[in-house]
Amino acid sequence: MSEIFEPKNIIVTGGCGFIGSNFVRWVAREHPEVHVTVLDKLTYAGNPENIAGLDSACVELVVGDICDAGLLDELVPGHDAVVHYAAESHNDNSIADPAPFLRTNVEGTFALIEACRKHGVRFHHVSTDEVYGDLALDDPARFTEETPYRPSSPYSSTKAASDMLVRAWVRTYGLRATISNCSNNYGPYQHPEKFIPRQVTNILDGVRPRLYGDGRNVRDWIHTEDHSSAVWTILTRGRVGETYLIGADGERSNIDVLRAILRAMGRPEDDFDWVRDRPGHDRRYAIDPTKLRRELGWEPAHTDFAAGLERTIAWYRDHEPWWRAAKDAAEARYAAQGQ
Ligand code: NAD
Ligand code: DAU
Repeated sequence: MSEIFEPKNIIVTGGCGFIGSNFVRWVAREHPEVHVTVLDKLTYAGNPENIAGLDSACVELVVGDICDAGLLDELVPGHDAVVHYAAESHNDNSIADPAPFLRTNVEGTFALIEACRKHGVRFHHVSTDEVYGDLALDDPARFTEETPYRPSSPYSSTKAASDMLVRAWVRTYGLRATISNCSNNYGPYQHPEKFIPRQVTNILDGVRPRLYGDGRNVRDWIHTEDHSSAVWTILTRGRVGETYLIGADGERSNIDVLRAILRAMGRPEDDFDWVRDRPGHDRRYAIDPTKLRRELGWEPAHTDFAAGLERTIAWYRDHEPWWRAAKDAAEARYAAQGQ
């Protein structure tokens, strides 16, 4: 294990999005001695409400674009680390319009690593298991840190490109960086365009959930709190230059997840509609998290998926004002795509 890194003053990009805001809340709770500067452009996916109520002495919001090199030149110096969550994150949107994905995910990551290189600041890059493409349903394999990159969608190809930039900056310029590739997150504050909150909010609205293709696609679910603890573990105890896969043994088919939601919400298990499949739809993701567990001793805490799902459903039931406008806008986008 390498030396322990103890940051006191970090920038979290995308800290008003789903996973970034959960990380900010987790740091504020578990490490209140750390000051967090959230850098977020507040796109359709960013909501300052996600970090509302946190102690303003510990968490500060700067509204700005990660592509803005001038802003980064002012903001980055004096910080110990940048933890980079900001991205365009939704596959369906990337298929409809890839341009913002190229800009934020590739150019934005480039601007950040240039700023970190220039000012000697450590960098943690939050990425996705989708860079590895997909696995067949009957393949016993899971993704490891050695799996070749084979992204399928505009979104995942831009995330793969950003990973490659970080690796090149480590090797060529000696950037002090780590990378993590995580599987599908669920939990509170997830945008209602994504699978689980979309179905939950549909049911709350009296609308039938929508399942793509044959519903047998598999995702490897992890609670977002476990993602937060894993990123903190890698930031503080991971080896510079290394990649760590984050997963919690949560493989489930979409139809199984949907039936679990329907049951938990008191609806019949077949009360949903089949809709047009996503073009290029990845079949199965599966993470082998052995390196993270063995080398850094990380373990997930939220291993009961049914319980985590129940709490997530309750959160959406209790937070309609949080999701209503975003839901209506997302459903208008889906309607235009026939989904
Ligand atoms: P999200 O879409 O909910 O949030 C993205 C955040 O980034 C928003 O707050 C948005 O305003 C901000 N942002 C977008 N463009 C920006 C820009 N140019 N400058 C500054 N801020 C900008 O995304 P998420 O689901 O929370 O994902 C966060 C990160 O985690 C992404 O990098 C994603 O690739 C990665 N990831 C997500 C998952 C998942 O299951 N959602 C799994 C693994 C990895
Ligand atoms: O694997 C990590 C990735 O997980 C992250 O990198 C992405 O940012 C994140 O969005 C997520 O990508 P997915 O494409 O797997 O997530 P999404 O919630 O869009 O869809 C999950 C599965 O559910 C996928 O197989 C498509 C399917 N689906 C989705 C929606 C929105 C449906 O069947 N119906 C739907 O209405």
